[in-house]
Amino acid sequence: MTMHQDKVGFLGLGSYTPQQVMTNEDWEQLVDTSDEWIRQRTGIERRRIVAEDENTVDLALAAAERALTAADLSVDKIDEIIVATDTPEVYLPDTASFLQHRLGTRSIPAYDLGGSGCAGFLQALDLARSRVICGKDRVLVVGVEVLTRLMDWTDRNTCVLFGDAAGAAVVGRSSEAREILAATAGTDGSRSEILTLEVGGTRKPFTVERAEQNLHRRIVMNGREVFKEAVRRMSQAAHEVLELAGRKLDEVALLVPHQANLRILRAVGKRLNLPDERICINVHEYGNTGSASVPLALDQALSAGRIRSGDLVLLTSFGAGFHWAAVLVQF
Ligand SMILES: CC(C)(COP(=O)(O)OP(=O)(O)OC[C@H]1O[C@@H](n2cnc3c(N)ncnc32)[C@H](O)[C@@H]1OP(=O)(O)O)[C@@H](O)C(=O)NCCC(=O)NCCS
Repeated sequence: MTMHQDKVGFLGLGSYTPQQVMTNEDWEQLVDTSDEWIRQRTGIERRRIVAEDENTVDLALAAAERALTAADLSVDKIDEIIVATDTPEVYLPDTASFLQHRLGTRSIPAYDLGGSGCAGFLQALDLARSRVICGKDRVLVVGVEVLTRLMDWTDRNTCVLFGDAAGAAVVGRSSEAREILAATAGTDGSRSEILTLEVGGTRKPFTVERAEQNLHRRIVMNGREVFKEAVRRMSQAAHEVLELAGRKLDEVALLVPHQANLRILRAVGKRLNLPDERICINVHEYGNTGSASVPLALDQALSAGRIRSGDLVLLTSFGAGFHWAAVLVQF
């Protein structure tokens, strides 16, 4: 193999958001909240929600097809599929099985990475890169979430935060690849109770009594603690990945953080000493779209011409677990 073919990274990116827009004013009709509160505390103005006949795999498929088109690849060139989601198509089997079938790939391995919340896509990206280094030619990675279908629409503490979306990337080895220079990830399970959905597993199985209280949809969150951890871990992961690649913060053209909350993004920017124009922000339009958040923001930044050839782009995210991850890409 010649040196110029040695880059492992993005061959193509794609994303999809459902048509239907839900504004803060729409939420005012359903729970005791206000547009002003939501904007001030989160920066969110609106979010997309799925149509009745759309499920997780429909969003995943749309984003995956766009990533394949961007990579100029037919589906038979894909060797493995990883889907990061906490809102799967069904409980069993995983969403990747449905996606494999709908895409019409060969009988390649396909699997989900679930439970890592908003950090799922970057964890999956790190894995995909390793799989390519281990010999797979091309891996399709999808981050998809239909949070509005499974959350508690009566709990104002969480319901206003989320939206539905999908983002996808084809990762492979090519002289044209937007190279992944380094990746890092970490977990601290000791704080899992500050962001969790407990009912439905073996500890608290689904029962009619629990369902009647809407507990199977109740995301239990200590917002302030999550906020602090998110800022700390996303900034820390950003420093770590730069160090791994031997690069400096002032070389970073664009930071693409998980879009949890505008105040979190600003706080990360401040810690990293990056001005607003070097931070990718779309949380006002889409809310927190879980594992779809980073690939959606990245794909939109690329389509909008915010990323030029040669730019160093830093992806960082954080989610339930707690898990965090960062990936450094040379476009
Ligand atoms: C959730 C979050 C927006 C709350 O903002 P905050 O400034 O921490 O707010 P506080 O916790 O001080 O709560 C203030 C009050 O607002 C109330 N409140 C909560 N949601 C509300 C809503 N949608 N509308 C109006 N009031 C609301 C709370 O009940 C609380 O009232 P109380 O003081 O009477 O109990 C913020 O903590 C946050 O964004 N955390 C991170 C969440 C996140 O990103 N999760 C996903 C991580 S991947």
